[in-house]
Amino acid sequence: MADHIVTDARTLDGTRVDVAVRDGVVERVVPAGEGDPGAFDPADHTDADGGLVTPPLIEPHLHLDATLTAGDPSWNDSGTLAEGIETWAEYKQDLDYDDVQERATQTVEWLAAHGVTRVRTHADTTEESLTAVEALLDLREEVDDLVDLQVVAFPQDGVYTADHHEDLLVEALEMGVDVVGGIPHNEHTREDGVRDVQTAFDLAERFDRRIDLHIDETDDPGSRFTEVLASEAIKRDMGDRTTASHTTALHSYPNAYAGKVVSLLAESGATVITNPPDNSVLQGRYDDYPKRRGHTRVDELRDAGVTVGIGHDSVMDPWYHYGVGDPLDAAFVLLHYAHMSGRGDVEPIWEMLTHANAEVFGVDSYGLEEGNEGSLVVYNSPDGFNALRTQAPRRLVLKDGRPIARTEPATTTVSRESGDVDVDFHR
Ligand code: FE2
Repeated sequence: MADHIVTDARTLDGTRVDVAVRDGVVERVVPAGEGDPGAFDPADHTDADGGLVTPPLIEPHLHLDATLTAGDPSWNDSGTLAEGIETWAEYKQDLDYDDVQERATQTVEWLAAHGVTRVRTHADTTEESLTAVEALLDLREEVDDLVDLQVVAFPQDGVYTADHHEDLLVEALEMGVDVVGGIPHNEHTREDGVRDVQTAFDLAERFDRRIDLHIDETDDPGSRFTEVLASEAIKRDMGDRTTASHTTALHSYPNAYAGKVVSLLAESGATVITNPPDNSVLQGRYDDYPKRRGHTRVDELRDAGVTVGIGHDSVMDPWYHYGVGDPLDAAFVLLHYAHMSGRGDVEPIWEMLTHANAEVFGVDSYGLEEGNEGSLVVYNSPDGFNALRTQAPRRLVLKDGRPIARTEPATTTVSRESGDVDVDFHR
């Protein structure tokens, strides 16, 4: 646990502050100029120079077993979820422990560079050697200097599509994964999909774990498992540890039914994660024009009081070829295709990136307040709007008082006939 002081930083509400961290904990947050950098070693002082400061970012939905495999063994040229699953099925036939660890470590380092100190990763449990589970559980300890890692037991190919998949899911829980996963829309039948959800709740109760299901990740308005998740969460009083990931079919439900599902989710207390990078390219692939953009109803969910987090889902894998592990990329996609481009949408987007994702993850003592964890991010941008607009470099990422990443903003020079001009992308 370390000491650090950040001076002249600007919070999301525009307040200029000094933030002092002692022994890894926020000791004081005071108006800018009232802090005491002289009480700290000069190496433990960062002058934010009026730059934005936020709590650390959280990546609530990622697949570190598949990360950085894009193009291997082939590119997903149809762009469908189904071809992504087929491509991954080929890759995972020879899944290698060291290969998973090496790729996952690189992506974790990219995430930390962008201000992320917590990652929830899914690990495929339908790969029979459970190599992904083993590698990512070990990685949990190996990268704990950078991030807190949660591993989800994720039955990619379905729990009831083969005899042994349920046993593999249980085995992953016995190995120590943090969260129970599921994928009801990928089961053969409606009945098996319902069983998939109920099994996840049964196992979460038995092993005392959280739940995070890939659910209704399709454009099919007949895919109706989110109602089952919400109902189980209500009946078992488990909403506070339940997450519905994707819920893209909600986009395509008739409004009357969508209203029912949104109400049930709100009543249950379950959280939702939208994954803009993947779902902006995976959904709508079977449409003729007009082509839907499959994303969940973020506005209606939030209006109803449901906590909605933002995940990246994939970084360079068969489902999404792009990405550098930056949550601001996911937010940038969301603000476009969810029509959250108004000035008034800036605050909700940051709330989703920070406190909503913290709720999904189950974080205590989060936020820039005295007594909370001494973790924060300083941006090379004066405010939340400009940080989103420029996807601003993270000048400093502090985890429990220790700098885990720094970025020196690049200098771009435009050569005019009259001479060189250093470009500043801020007005
Ligand atoms: Fe996913």
